[in-house]
Amino acid sequence: MKRITTIAFVFVALTHAVLAQDVKQISILVDKPTVKVSPNMWGIFFEDINFSADGGLYAELVKNRSFEFLKPLMGWKEIKGEGGSGNILIINRGKGNENNPRFGRITVKSASGYYGLENEGFRGMGIEKGKTYNFSILARKGNGVTKIKIHLLGADGKVISNDATLQGFTDKWGKYSASITATATEAKAHFAVMFEGAGILDVDMISLFPKDTWKGRANGLRPDLAQLLADLKPGFVRFPGGCIVEGRDLANRYQWKKTVGNVEDRELIINRWNTEFPQRSAPDYFQSYGLGFFEYFQLAEDIGAEPLPILNCGMACQYNTGEVAPLDQISPFIQDALDLVEFANGQVTTKWGKLRAAMGHPKPFNLKMMGVGNEQWDVQYLDRYKLFAKALNTKYPDLKLVTSSGPSPSGDKFDYLQKELREQKVNFLDEHYYQSPDWFMQNASRYDNYDRKSSKIFAGEYAAHIKEPKGAKESETMNAWVSALAEAAFMTGLERNADVVQMASYAPLLAHVEAWQWRPDLIWFDNLHSVATPNYYVQKLFANNKGTDVVPALMDGKILAGKDSLYASAVIDKSTHQLVVKVVNTSSLPITIQLNSAGAGTSKGTLTELTASNNLDINTLADPKKIYPTESPVTINASKLSLKPRSVKVPYTEKK
Ligand code: AHR
Repeated sequence: MKRITTIAFVFVALTHAVLAQDVKQISILVDKPTVKVSPNMWGIFFEDINFSADGGLYAELVKNRSFEFLKPLMGWKEIKGEGGSGNILIINRGKGNENNPRFGRITVKSASGYYGLENEGFRGMGIEKGKTYNFSILARKGNGVTKIKIHLLGADGKVISNDATLQGFTDKWGKYSASITATATEAKAHFAVMFEGAGILDVDMISLFPKDTWKGRANGLRPDLAQLLADLKPGFVRFPGGCIVEGRDLANRYQWKKTVGNVEDRELIINRWNTEFPQRSAPDYFQSYGLGFFEYFQLAEDIGAEPLPILNCGMACQYNTGEVAPLDQISPFIQDALDLVEFANGQVTTKWGKLRAAMGHPKPFNLKMMGVGNEQWDVQYLDRYKLFAKALNTKYPDLKLVTSSGPSPSGDKFDYLQKELREQKVNFLDEHYYQSPDWFMQNASRYDNYDRKSSKIFAGEYAAHIKEPKGAKESETMNAWVSALAEAAFMTGLERNADVVQMASYAPLLAHVEAWQWRPDLIWFDNLHSVATPNYYVQKLFANNKGTDVVPALMDGKILAGKDSLYASAVIDKSTHQLVVKVVNTSSLPITIQLNSAGAGTSKGTLTELTASNNLDINTLADPKKIYPTESPVTINASKLSLKPRSVKVPYTEKK
């Protein structure tokens, strides 16, 4: 390895005056790399929870665009004006299109004026002044109705866009499109579709997208949210969850084949989080699957991450019905898994490869790994996993499989699966921990003594959960600084053990401030803005500085995992000749440290710090950068660094 000559530091703390009398020496053995860091190490976990997909990352603004919600007109309001009148009849076309059976038959009764429908969006629509919005509708003329007019409305009912008009409908279903430009910025806009001319028009898939989606894709993603994901530079994207994979019952499970192909042919289902928590009930929470498996693969590719789909293994959520498919009827579930590999990687001449190509991606997505089941447990999981593994390993021997180790990081369920699945020599065991900050700090050494030769670990879902602070506001409070700090301390342990833990993802990823079911979450948003939590910045500091090889970070010759409330890990990057040291101070006292790095000489670099004045400080939509990384120059060996109470610091080398 070339000598490292420059150092930059990424810190999560404020600097203090150096307290020379209390200097902790941390030695970084730059020339003694221990284990490799997986290029996929720090990834993201996406689940459609908290309105993460519809109403979140998926940029569609119209809620219930195809009238398939349990209540067909949920999200819609009938409107009329200028003396107009009419009605809508919901028709189920049955065999015509089983995935999207309903459409609306609009009857305009009056020759003048208009009858129409107004959509409320997902807790309103986020509209920006000067921006263009693309409307589309499937329509079929009965007789009469000659015109559709559209515009946006502010929360006060005033029109906030130009009008656009569509006409020329025929008696065959066709797609009609128009664009409008907003004249005001509004977080709670509505959208009006008005029908003119006495007669009948059938309508379906009424859609409104911002023109500016991420990377300008049709059926695309909300740019601010997608960019926050891209900025993490994640090594993988796990999708589509989570419990949503399992479903409350098997009928409600996630079936990827229903989420690909033409958007209007994807079958909407109720979102399991619609009813999961009575205290956070969301009757209007469904999965339109506009954001489906093709879009997930594309997102992963766009942000340079490996796709990691998790598939149902013939078991519904064991916290809900826990129903299972009988073993002699498991083949369709296994076939779904086999077909997914063909969809992702197959040649365009294969059935599923052809569909991928038809959707605009003839090149393979290069799928290398897949999860079988989410938080499953007990022998029923093992029985089903073995059948999946046999079929997948036979047909795709290079595909790496991820298996459940239950919903908790310890206990009977965990011990049973860890033992049994290690005997099966599975590639990855998926461990989940939603625990207190103390647990995270106390478990920074969790993997120091794991078997190095057995299955690898995927820390597939984790987040430090604090007790609800008294008088807390409803939304972001759970992402207080202390939770991020504890995760950072824990993550030094993941990094140090990068030979065992080869992937890790915080969960869940996204949450709408007015429509969440689960917290804490990595990123919060309303209809116009988003805010990255302190937890996000911790993830980013690690993921953006992951290096290629772990090097020892020692105090008194020992790993630093809680002694004097300090935690540290270090990596070098052999391609960029950088050293990155992450140091976490969880104490209530400032600590001064001196980093000594024999192999690095006296090196200049950057110190990045992330800290907060109080444990319960948070970032909010109103104050999104209260806790935010700052950078300053630093010299290793020569520099003594003061760590603010409850802080994390991460030094790294600059590129040569
Ligand atoms: O991340 C939220 C939920 O937590 C996931 O859906 C599930 O896997 C876990 O219990």
